Amino acid sequence: MGEQQASTATASATTNRRQPYPRGFLETISTGWAERDDIAPQPRDQAVFAARRRASVSAAFTGQRLVVPAGELATRSNDTDYPFRAHSAFSHLTGWGSDSEPGSVLVFDPTEAGHIVTLFFRERADRTTAEFYSNAAIGEFWIGPRPSRQAVAADLDIATERLEAFVPTDTDRVVGEDAELTRFVSELRLVKDDYEIAELRRAIDVTAAGFDDIVGDLDRIVDHPRGERVVEGVFHRRARSDGNGEGYDTIAAAGPHACYLHWTRNDGAVRPGELMLIDAGVELDSLYTADITRTIPVSGTFSPVQRQVYEAVREAADAGFAAARPGALFREVHEAAMSVIARRVAEWGLLPVTADEALDPDLGGQHRRYMVHGTSHHLGLDVHDCAQARREMYYDGVLAPGMVFTIEPGLYFQIDDLTVPAPFRGIGVRIEDDVLMTADGPVNLSAAIPRTADDVEAWLAGIRR
Ligand code: GLY
Ligand code: MN
Repeated sequence: MGEQQASTATASATTNRRQPYPRGFLETISTGWAERDDIAPQPRDQAVFAARRRASVSAAFTGQRLVVPAGELATRSNDTDYPFRAHSAFSHLTGWGSDSEPGSVLVFDPTEAGHIVTLFFRERADRTTAEFYSNAAIGEFWIGPRPSRQAVAADLDIATERLEAFVPTDTDRVVGEDAELTRFVSELRLVKDDYEIAELRRAIDVTAAGFDDIVGDLDRIVDHPRGERVVEGVFHRRARSDGNGEGYDTIAAAGPHACYLHWTRNDGAVRPGELMLIDAGVELDSLYTADITRTIPVSGTFSPVQRQVYEAVREAADAGFAAARPGALFREVHEAAMSVIARRVAEWGLLPVTADEALDPDLGGQHRRYMVHGTSHHLGLDVHDCAQARREMYYDGVLAPGMVFTIEPGLYFQIDDLTVPAPFRGIGVRIEDDVLMTADGPVNLSAAIPRTADDVEAWLAGIRR
């Protein structure tokens, strides 16, 4: 497809593909269109929750002008862009998800009584404009219908204005530029409201269906020379059909690839006898995402050494769950899981020191060679949610009802690690669940996806065609 230009005078300096529009086209293109039936929708479910979040921001920054940008389209190459994904703070405070308009800004203007909040966005162009038919990035002839100001105002229950009416000032405090405001809106997401919890539950359910799809397709995956890509594709089909997409690039890591923590090249074969680690999460249209890992034996049953490693990781995860109590510290989940990891690898003779020595906070850490990552992170709009929160609110923070986070210990024995006996080499295992903290303790939101070695084997036996 090629863009055309409204007149040769506006020819782009960056492309020579454009052709001038002939006069007959220009004289007729703006006419003959039916009136649009613009029915203002009822506010979407999240509007009332987003309003409460805005009220919290307003109360904390009295008398100051605040700007929350959605962000811009990012160029992938030449004239192709990545799919637009709004900044998470923007989505959180507007309730606008995958249908957010690039370039939008949410503005809090201070008043005597608080703030007036206005959403500035590029509304659709009138059909009398050249944008309508000639702008491949935003013209409705190219990308499909775009909303009017009235429709967005009703949908999100926020006052809206034309983007051109937004005038930045020198004293604006801007999310992404102002550290204190950025930190505040990140910490605002540490405890999820009921809407967010419901969305996360749904994202996890769709992700569980994606994992079933992969297991159901294992024979085809094994047959393909790049079976890992087939895994990625099968999950993608579920993520796009039932959600907005993936919340992060799918990790489909068979055999020794499982030891690379973020293996997303996914260009390897999936061979019987090996383990395959799948770390994947569906992001919904609301932009809430799951983040789940399962490690499965490709041929359906674990070998004795695979099972030994797998069950040690499962035991570490269970220890993490046991430590996760309201009032406990976030980092105590990690410490409980790492304690199991240290004891097991010490028992297996892998450490040059005792488990207790390895667990010494200053002089130890030898066991971390086999699990260099953390056990938990907050989960929500971002897969690593609330990343700008202060350490005392996050890693050293207190677990509270409404928090959603992962528990994801692992053990990874690189193929060329001379510190481990040969049978361990090339085995990588991670088990990752998504957890909701409640007043009564943690709820494993991803418990429906089998996680013990026995249950994983039964899952494979039952679902595989
Ligand atoms: N799912 C990848 C990670 O948590 O880093
Ligand atoms: Mn994770």
